Amino acid sequence: MLKGKKVLLTAGPTYEPIDPVRFIGNHSTGKMGFALAEEFAEKGAEVILVSGPVNLKTFHPQIHTVSVMTADEMFAEVQKYAAEADIWVFAAAVADYKPKQAAGTKIKKDSDSFSIELVKNVDIAATLGKQKKPNQFSVGFALETNNELVHAQQKLQKKNLDMVILNSLQDAGAGFKHDTNKISIVERDKITNFELKAKTAVAQDIVRTIMERMYA
Ligand code: CTP
Ligand code: CA
Repeated sequence: MLKGKKVLLTAGPTYEPIDPVRFIGNHSTGKMGFALAEEFAEKGAEVILVSGPVNLKTFHPQIHTVSVMTADEMFAEVQKYAAEADIWVFAAAVADYKPKQAAGTKIKKDSDSFSIELVKNVDIAATLGKQKKPNQFSVGFALETNNELVHAQQKLQKKNLDMVILNSLQDAGAGFKHDTNKISIVERDKITNFELKAKTAVAQDIVRTIMERMYA
């Protein structure tokens, strides 16, 4: 049980404004993050769910949802709750880059070609990783197309994570836009592979494994 424990979770995409009516975003639905929030709450935890724009709602009394739009907003909210949380889960598909400057008025199609200068967004997981205390447990996600295990291990190190949930793109039915997912849990000294299953069942596998590691 996770009664008395606090979980900080990021979920969904971020939208980075180009002008008042356009943005850079991605296809994340937030389903995996919301399924995790529900499962943590079911196990008794109090959950702060910081979510980018999604079409999902949760009514669980132990889930407090904070809605954000951009990576900068997500980071600002995460910082408010990070110190008091026992578990951090970074399930959001944060945009890696944002327009250097959003136009104040709608951009007109005046020229034949057009480019936008992008700058790197804050890495929420990596920044938090630098302030992680020994009693805090942090979990990141990775979706890779090549050298998946090497990349997952690198993210584990670079972001000071205890666990990386590696999404497999090998199987049709896994990842964005699906209700199912196939994951491997990558830890410093161990890799556990799971079957393709519903995201709600994947959430159960993840939460169970975290509890085993933290409170075994
Ligand atoms: N993440 C984050 N803030 C960002 C980018 C990523 O918190 N600005 C988190 C994600 O939520 C995820 C983990 O870091 O848990 C890995 O995200 P991923 O996109 O796979 O890694 P990146 O470091 O962005 O590297 P790349 O996209 O180049 O593979
Ligand atoms: Ca990325």
